[in-house]
Amino acid sequence: MRAESLEVMLATNVEPVVVCAQVGNVNSGSCDPIAQIVNLTHACDGWVHVDGAFGLWAAASPQYRGLVAGVERADSWATDAHKWLNVPYDCGLAIVAEPNATKAALHASTSYLTSSDGREPGDHVLEMSRRARAVPVYAALRSLGREGLSKLVEDCCHHARRLAATMAAVEGVTVLNAVVLNQVLLRFIDDATTYRVIDQVQRGGEVWLGPTVWRGKAAARVSFSNWSTNEADVDRLSAVLTHSLAEVEPES
Ligand SMILES: Cc1ncc(COP(=O)(O)O)c(C=O)c1O
Repeated sequence: MRAESLEVMLATNVEPVVVCAQVGNVNSGSCDPIAQIVNLTHACDGWVHVDGAFGLWAAASPQYRGLVAGVERADSWATDAHKWLNVPYDCGLAIVAEPNATKAALHASTSYLTSSDGREPGDHVLEMSRRARAVPVYAALRSLGREGLSKLVEDCCHHARRLAATMAAVEGVTVLNAVVLNQVLLRFIDDATTYRVIDQVQRGGEVWLGPTVWRGKAAARVSFSNWSTNEADVDRLSAVLTHSLAEVEPES
């Protein structure tokens, strides 16, 4: 999102305003300028929601938290623990600054339900019955600690930069994005070759990555989030990609 375009839109808006910004674009890993978005949106009494499915975790790292500066002033966040925190599906988190907002929207009462003055889980989500998803999230956060979480984020970003640097030197490969976080978009010569390389890699079974389209161009989308990935894995991935390109290239 470009703050100057948002400013133009907000000048002509019809209230109420909810602006959904993103930290950690699913393709590029880039982050919207949250501080400016919050300033502009709050100036017209709007609500800022931040989709930080994986990018919000950058806040755990002193090296990367500048990317998400301003999120602390947003009205709500969504993030996933089942991405960068490496816990099982489906540990999505919604965090809302105003304590009564979710209750006002989601609270349901009926004769057979108990209520209290305390925090009733059913007041904050759509479901009344659900698994204790908070347990693995809590366990992961406790075991990683502040430093472990920061290292997890920084290692993944390091791997993304390492892959991008290696692949950028391979003839026929273009890194389409500015690698700011843990995502790398690789294009192999043209659309057709890119899809062939991805297919070749997937059928090889050694690594897995999927396709995407970025600014009209086909790309392979590499997303680093696993705690166990190391530099040797990254180099193995580079080798697989380079080898796959060499195999499909004659056909292009
Ligand atoms: C930025 C972003 N938002 C939202 C989602 C949706 O995630 P989920 O349905 O797992 O919560 C994703 C998944 O990749 C994502 O990257």
